[in-house]
Amino acid sequence: MAEENQNLRTPIVCVMGHVDHGKTTLLDQIRGTAIVKGEAGAITQHIGATEVPIDVIVEKCGDKRLADKFIVPGLLFIDTPGHHAFTTLRSRGGSLADLAVVVVDINEGFKPQTIESLNILKRFKTPFIVVTNKIDRILGWKVHEGESFLSTYNKQTPEVQGLFEQKFYDVIGHLYEQGFSADRFDRVTDFQKTLGVIPISGLTGEGIPDVLMILLGLAQRFLESSLQYDINGPGVGTVLEVKDEKGLGTTIDVILYDGTLKKGDTVVIGRLGEPIVTKVRALLKPRELSEIRYESKFQPIQEVAAAAGVKISAPDIDDALAGAPIISATPETLDAVIEKVKSEI
Ligand code: GTP
Ligand code: MG
Repeated sequence: MAEENQNLRTPIVCVMGHVDHGKTTLLDQIRGTAIVKGEAGAITQHIGATEVPIDVIVEKCGDKRLADKFIVPGLLFIDTPGHHAFTTLRSRGGSLADLAVVVVDINEGFKPQTIESLNILKRFKTPFIVVTNKIDRILGWKVHEGESFLSTYNKQTPEVQGLFEQKFYDVIGHLYEQGFSADRFDRVTDFQKTLGVIPISGLTGEGIPDVLMILLGLAQRFLESSLQYDINGPGVGTVLEVKDEKGLGTTIDVILYDGTLKKGDTVVIGRLGEPIVTKVRALLKPRELSEIRYESKFQPIQEVAAAAGVKISAPDIDDALAGAPIISATPETLDAVIEKVKSEI
């Protein structure tokens, strides 16, 4: 990768959509294939997120030349449950998602949370793609595991292709109704004008190389300036969840999207009323699967740089607010940071 691009952080990609349309399965597929291709690089499990390094993605896309072309260190995927809480999180977190994937079950079509997801992304002007999932369930579909969409599509019978087209254009029609000019991804020349739609199966991996490739392309095209960050700057993130953990007491799961957070740092966390000011007692990441002999599921780390998902243990965080900001502060910046956190609640 080119030297000058070393300070681009990993883009955060939110996977959204209606309940049961296949968000988690899509991520499992990306995780799974990446683990199989393990020799290319290591998948990092974060709290509430999965990081897929660029070399794994490049390997998966099957074109080594991409390695020189792409500038981001990888993609950090965040799964979201198909429920309302995410709206709140997005409104408060603001810049949490750099990119998004909206998952639509091609056999079920548009549903309320599909529309809700689109509205959130419209409001925040987040670049995104739509995937029409579960193509393997189209009557007569012949599975070609892990292949690109066009490769598997071209091997289907004309009848199956016809059935696919019918369902696919139904989704395109719904997107138009929602005010989006959309088309199949391989026919899109300008992703700024036209929304790219990728047919996939999260279960069989068909179309997944296309998803990874298009996401990298979007990151490259639209995010270069917003992904530049100061790795030595204060840690800035959003609280995903407040959770009781055995042996740790109350903890908060945080997605860090700027700077670096260290053990012992003073942090300001949003809540109703005056923000919490406390000190990071422990920064925790999930233990690797190979380390399950340990009593705790978590492993302490000294510091963490954006973008990352991390669990924080600290005193007095019981009434931290999911969706609220968390920012680290020095004695000099503390008052200003408190004001900033307060203004974002
Ligand atoms: P919530 O988190 O509850 O909103 O659901 P989700 O969107 O994460 O859906 P999930 O991945 O849990 O999938 C729901 C069901 O659909 C599971 O039984 C999956 O196995 C199945 N499924 C998901 N993707 C596919 C696919 O591409 N093909 C087929 N045949 N089944 C799928
Ligand atoms: Mg899920």
